[in-house]
Amino acid sequence: MPLQRIETVDQPRSEAVAAGQIALFDKKTRRLDDFRNMLVWGDNKLIIASVLRDFRGKIDLIYIDPPFDVDADFRMGVPIGDQNDEIFKDQSALEMVAYRDTWGKGSDSYLQMLGERLSIMRELLADTGSIFVHVGANVSHRVRAIMDDIFGLPNFRNEIILPGRAVKNLQQQFDSLQRLQVRHDVLLWYTRLPSTRFKPFWIEKHDPGNPEGHWHHFWSTADRPTMRYELFGVTPTSGQWVWKKERALTASANYERFLAEAGGRTLAQYWRDTGSRLEFIRPSPDDGKPQYWREPAESRLADTVWSGLPVYSSSSDYPTEKSQALLQQILELASTEGATVADFFCGSGTTAVVAERLGRRWIMADLGRFAIHTSRKRLIELQRQLHAEGKPYRAFDVFNLGRYERQWWQKERLQGADEEHRRIVLEFYRAEPLRNSPSPLLHGRKGPAFCHVDSIDSILTRDEVRAAAAAAKQAGAKELACLAWDFEMNLRMECNAVEKELGIKIKIIQIPREIMEKNRKDPPPFLEVATLEAKPIYRTEAGKRVVDIKLTAFIPSLAEVPSKELEALQERAVKSGFDFIDFWAVDFDYHDGGPFNHHWQDYRTRKDRSLKTVSEQGFSYPKKGTYTACVKVVDIFGCDTSVTVEVDYA
Ligand SMILES: C[S@@+](CC[C@H](N)C(=O)[O-])C[C@H]1O[C@@H](n2cnc3c(N)ncnc32)[C@H](O)[C@@H]1O
Repeated sequence: MPLQRIETVDQPRSEAVAAGQIALFDKKTRRLDDFRNMLVWGDNKLIIASVLRDFRGKIDLIYIDPPFDVDADFRMGVPIGDQNDEIFKDQSALEMVAYRDTWGKGSDSYLQMLGERLSIMRELLADTGSIFVHVGANVSHRVRAIMDDIFGLPNFRNEIILPGRAVKNLQQQFDSLQRLQVRHDVLLWYTRLPSTRFKPFWIEKHDPGNPEGHWHHFWSTADRPTMRYELFGVTPTSGQWVWKKERALTASANYERFLAEAGGRTLAQYWRDTGSRLEFIRPSPDDGKPQYWREPAESRLADTVWSGLPVYSSSSDYPTEKSQALLQQILELASTEGATVADFFCGSGTTAVVAERLGRRWIMADLGRFAIHTSRKRLIELQRQLHAEGKPYRAFDVFNLGRYERQWWQKERLQGADEEHRRIVLEFYRAEPLRNSPSPLLHGRKGPAFCHVDSIDSILTRDEVRAAAAAAKQAGAKELACLAWDFEMNLRMECNAVEKELGIKIKIIQIPREIMEKNRKDPPPFLEVATLEAKPIYRTEAGKRVVDIKLTAFIPSLAEVPSKELEALQERAVKSGFDFIDFWAVDFDYHDGGPFNHHWQDYRTRKDRSLKTVSEQGFSYPKKGTYTACVKVVDIFGCDTSVTVEVDYA
């Protein structure tokens, strides 16, 4: 099954002005090569098989971290609006299915799920390739047995012990009457061939008085511009050197010696001399906050207990996010620059972030929309950062497999019968199918509303809505519900116009994917799709006409809000819809059917909750004419919607 490319993310273009100038801008940052990294949304069982076509025997390192903490992976609090208030996000439809598939029959179904995928992943590995599987201690012995079968015993390299999290819940306390608390994860390392050799891997010796490792958070609140001078080729833009320039230059000799001793591996960016010793300071790879390292460390050969390493990220909303330090250790251990690294359970994209920093190519997949959104946001931010530092990075594309899944359902289960499809949709929607319908466009009735069910694998268009609304009006109805899998962009705005013209209320409702589940009986929620409106804004800059986009309205779909909170949030959604926007982006020159190119974007972060509602690109087109801009909004639940806007570039 081919992957569908839905977005391209090239590089930060906030500084790029006109389309014609982007080529110039490109030259500023050296691209490593033309490989485009891949972020894929969908069930990895299908994705791994799809990727096989182009990547059989070509992947150098696979790291996977499948969910093993039963239900800890999907439910989470997400920040909303300009302040740091939080609301609870439920599982998405797709995540629910995956969760049931994985844990429906306890660890047996989990192992089956994993086994199926590991067998295909083996085909992806290069002859010198490695796979690392991160699992909980509760299932590690069974996963290891499966991996022995799939990869062959001679390919087993190590079982690595990773310090886990202390678990505080009541059940654990109760369990402690019977056994010790489990406080470690397991990393299973296999290779494709037994003959593969790796270079000796040295790690910094752990300081026993310092259980967190050498690096610590360090806050400097002072802000003295005179302390920002060039040292080691770096001029700090945030933060500063600790000593005045003359003293720094003397002490920098010590720093060079330290670097040589540490094998050049520790790239401290800041340092200070406390009088009795040197302290080396760098931004934390996890959250960019300054960290300091007390003294030059000794190195020792790595072993299978990685006790000095933080395994979980301390600075993330994503509950299962792993630390960059862990991924860095794995990637440095078993891959080299230019290698291709894959993670098919990528979560918030930590593997991609580290791969990008270390100059590896990457392929990531996850079935959570929220996970894909979190990864996209992190990777865009990383591109911006690397760009600002003048460091190279690769472009990436976002793909999905969604449409094909329905095609498969249609072929396998419905055998192409659209009538059967409509019957199932209406049954789940709890609507009556119409026996003697007044129009072929009206398929059911629910209360006062007629229902139109769009065909499987098609996109509901404005013309269809207009025709169905006219048929409903003719049949004397005041309301029409249009149920569809996909929607033409800008559809809601057209509906608003038709509502006014015909005096009929139109609801646009997304058919939930859960209805494809085998043996599903109870109806999943059918929710209305988000509404988005935007308009172009024109001004003249240095004698040139430039365009920006202003968001004028947004009402989110609340598909992933727990039903308890739905009512309260509905009110907020209508009153202050912009609070629900997490990210938005503009493609100023969008072509129907093509991928969305990120020309400009803005997003909220934990630290900075503000969001612009007018783009700041000042885009100019190479010549006069009418163009189409596309605006994409991702809400705080990771659901996206888009709208096209006509730009009259006179
Ligand atoms: C433990 S988390 C991974 C966390 C990740 N290592 C990080 O640092 O953020 C597991 C992820 O697997 C994803 N997942 C579970 N089943 C999946 C499937 N069948 N296909 C793709 N992704 C899946 C979940 O959505 C979740 O984001």
